[in-house]
Amino acid sequence: MGGSAVSDAFSGFDLGGMTALITGGASGLGAMTAELLTNRGARVAIADINMDAASELARRLDGIAVACDVTDSTQVRDAVNMAVTSFGGLDVMVNNAGIAPPPDNDRFQRMVNNQMARLDPSIEATPLDILVNLSDPVWDRMIKTHLYGVFYGTREALAHMTPRRSGSIINISSILGLRPSASAPHYSVAKAGIIALTKASSAEVSQFGVRINAVCPGYTDTPLLSQYSEMMRSVIVSQIGMGRMGTADEIAEVIAFLASPAGSYCTGEVFSASGGYLS
Ligand SMILES: NC(=O)c1ccc[n+]([C@@H]2O[C@H](COP(=O)([O-])OP(=O)(O)OC[C@H]3O[C@@H](n4cnc5c(N)ncnc54)[C@H](O)[C@@H]3O)[C@@H](O)[C@H]2O)c1
Repeated sequence: MGGSAVSDAFSGFDLGGMTALITGGASGLGAMTAELLTNRGARVAIADINMDAASELARRLDGIAVACDVTDSTQVRDAVNMAVTSFGGLDVMVNNAGIAPPPDNDRFQRMVNNQMARLDPSIEATPLDILVNLSDPVWDRMIKTHLYGVFYGTREALAHMTPRRSGSIINISSILGLRPSASAPHYSVAKAGIIALTKASSAEVSQFGVRINAVCPGYTDTPLLSQYSEMMRSVIVSQIGMGRMGTADEIAEVIAFLASPAGSYCTGEVFSASGGYLS
């Protein structure tokens, strides 16, 4: 019988001596992940377009801040190289940077109305016209930030991890990558693409000691959702079995598990944490 990889090393969730780079690490899920990984013993590099927030967090966590726009492959390469040079290696890459479509109250109300119309024929449904109004630049920016960002981050991290035969890459997708939403087709497509990229890339490198997994958060209370109205939040919460949005630390715990030796047998997997999203 072979020994357990976890108990042999037994450190469980301990990340002592490890190093991590988190894109979009200056806010929300990324910032909470930086904090949790640091608390578990890792040194973190926070890569973000918001350098003020990244620098402040890095100072507090005794990590480093790196200016990086994930839509630019050169900047992602430079950020990974800087983390490798500063820390002497890279154990964990969290591809997390992201944006969300701005909330549209009027359209949201029409979506709710159309749901009611399916139950009550006396209610008139009105077309949402979401896709026909989606411009090229808006589509491109969404796909570039999420799908290209994760591609660049994975490619640059692998260049360091595969030769060392070790590493964990965690790609932040979304529950909408599993259950695409009419309200955000571009976001849903980008997040579904991240799941496919996670599976394809992990299949290539699992033999060489590098694990790649996707995390699909459900609706989570972060600055990303700060512009949502009370009405929108109530309707969203009504679609969550647990009756509340998630908190950033609840998602960060899943990421920290995958980063740690406790996640040693997980690769090419997709982990959702959605509070029982019903939609
Ligand atoms: N909050 C949710 O409900 C939720 C649900 C599912 C998935 N997600 C995903 O989680 C990730 C983090 O989201 P969050 O809720 O913490 O949002 P957030 O807005 O709080 O943080 C996102 C961070 O990404 C940074 N960022 C944006 N574009 C960037 C770019 N081009 N290059 C580098 N950094 C960039 C921002 O400056 C910010 O610091 C995103 O990928 C998001 O799609 C969030």
